[in-house]
Amino acid sequence: MKIGVVGSGIMGNGIAQVFAMSGHTVILSDLNKQALDKAELVINQNVERVLKKSNQLDKKQTVLDCLTYTTDNSLLKDADLIVEAVTENMEVKRSVFKELDSFCTSKTILATNTSGLSITELANMTNRPGKVCGMHFFNPVPVMKLVEIVRGAETTDETIQFVQSLTKEMEKVSIVAKDSPLFVVNRILIPMLSEAMFVYGEGIASAEDIDSGMVYGTNQPIGPLRLADMIGLDTLLYVQETLLEETGDSKYRIPPILKQLVRAGHYGRKTNKGFYTYE
Ligand code: 3HC
Repeated sequence: MKIGVVGSGIMGNGIAQVFAMSGHTVILSDLNKQALDKAELVINQNVERVLKKSNQLDKKQTVLDCLTYTTDNSLLKDADLIVEAVTENMEVKRSVFKELDSFCTSKTILATNTSGLSITELANMTNRPGKVCGMHFFNPVPVMKLVEIVRGAETTDETIQFVQSLTKEMEKVSIVAKDSPLFVVNRILIPMLSEAMFVYGEGIASAEDIDSGMVYGTNQPIGPLRLADMIGLDTLLYVQETLLEETGDSKYRIPPILKQLVRAGHYGRKTNKGFYTYE
């Protein structure tokens, strides 16, 4: 199959990698050439890391040959599936969907990796709402097994089945959710991360102790503040704003410390500073 991925950030490059590793032809596009160059480097390293573990380094070049990097979205026009993974902002995503719909062939399925924005609203930007769905991967994409498939108001069963079978082929597990703010996993996860930020912001414990508490007390692989840094605090702020705006429920109020860190340009690992400082 020919797969397009739009947006070469943390999620986009991971998504491109996993499709290439299951043998698909992948075109990764981004408006920013520097971001694409960085994505290519990261993908090369991560493909090597995964293949080394299974003693299959000889397959590295075959996987890398499946990938093309471009700043020209129109190369995606005859893709079977395009996964959009641009910044978590409805206006930006709406314009990407409108643009892709204008030149893609009628067979192309348009999926979004949004963390929780409305699939139905994005589908409404296109003339193919039945062929639009959510395909929500988890970070780090090559490691995390889940893909949350989200059904918009008009998504057809054929679209869901197509995406489900591709997910299975990549040896990932899928769940299907209705279009609703933050779907299933983030709806449950984000309030937990948010509460950790309130505990930190209220000075109840240090970041290290909050994380140790959750790692050793609830068997999570990493603590909530370290996970927040890994996801990206800018992304988390957008996601939390969506939850609060869409539900209007004050229980989803945004921790002041999250706003403050984002306003200071500290987005977590991607800027080397968030709740922790990274080398
Ligand atoms: N590519 C390939 N392999 C990777 C990788 C990557 N990017 N990152 C880590 N790995 C592999 C390592 O090679 C290692 O493999 P090994 O055990 O076979 O040697 C394994 O993962 C563990 O890595 P590390 O030892 O370096 O570090 P950790 O033990 O801390 O594990 C982790 C890393 C798997 C990311 C673990 O910390 C974890 O599971 N964290 C929680 C992740 C999570 O919850 N993600 C979901 C976030 S929510 C989200 O994405 C939704 C969005 O919409 C907000």
